[in-house]
Amino acid sequence: MMKEKDALDGNICLIGYMGSGKSTVGRMLAGKLDREFMDTDDLITENEGRSIPEIFRDSGEPYFRGLEYGLLKRLADEEPVKGIVLATGGGIPVDERNRALLKKTGTVIYLRSSAESLCERVGNDTNRPLLNAPDRLKKIREMLKYRGPLYEECADIIIDTDEMSAEETVDYILKLPG
Ligand code: S3P
Repeated sequence: MMKEKDALDGNICLIGYMGSGKSTVGRMLAGKLDREFMDTDDLITENEGRSIPEIFRDSGEPYFRGLEYGLLKRLADEEPVKGIVLATGGGIPVDERNRALLKKTGTVIYLRSSAESLCERVGNDTNRPLLNAPDRLKKIREMLKYRGPLYEECADIIIDTDEMSAEETVDYILKLPG
């Protein structure tokens, strides 16, 4: 536990790097808590009618980041959602405005993993444009160096998931005090 907060009241927002299990854990957790599940990547893909690689390719990363901010502002501020589990794209906490919106909207849980296990988990997935690098592990290490402190700053709760399955992570969250 990083900070005191009524852990599972309000929205539960999962943050972390690509491959950290946010969507899998989030969906399972929502099922166990009988809550609605939302995933920022899925919502953006639906709204845009095109995949994330297509958005990056045809409109560029800044455009995608603008969509993330607009969506999060809507969910956290303009038309606030209540009592949901939200899985967020791995880049969302990089933007300071998004970190403030996440903190405001609920309990933020960071699924923290080592670069090695993240690299293993993302495998050869081609759906993540930022990982189209010749040396993926190196790329992940570099990005984590910058992003890790931002994820940590944003989180109410940090869970080290290297040795945990998605089921174990969900159980851990369900047993949190509060
Ligand atoms: C990104 C993470 C992806 C997706 C996009 C950019 C990032 O989401 O939003 O490819 O910058 O870390 P996942 O973390 O769900 O893979």
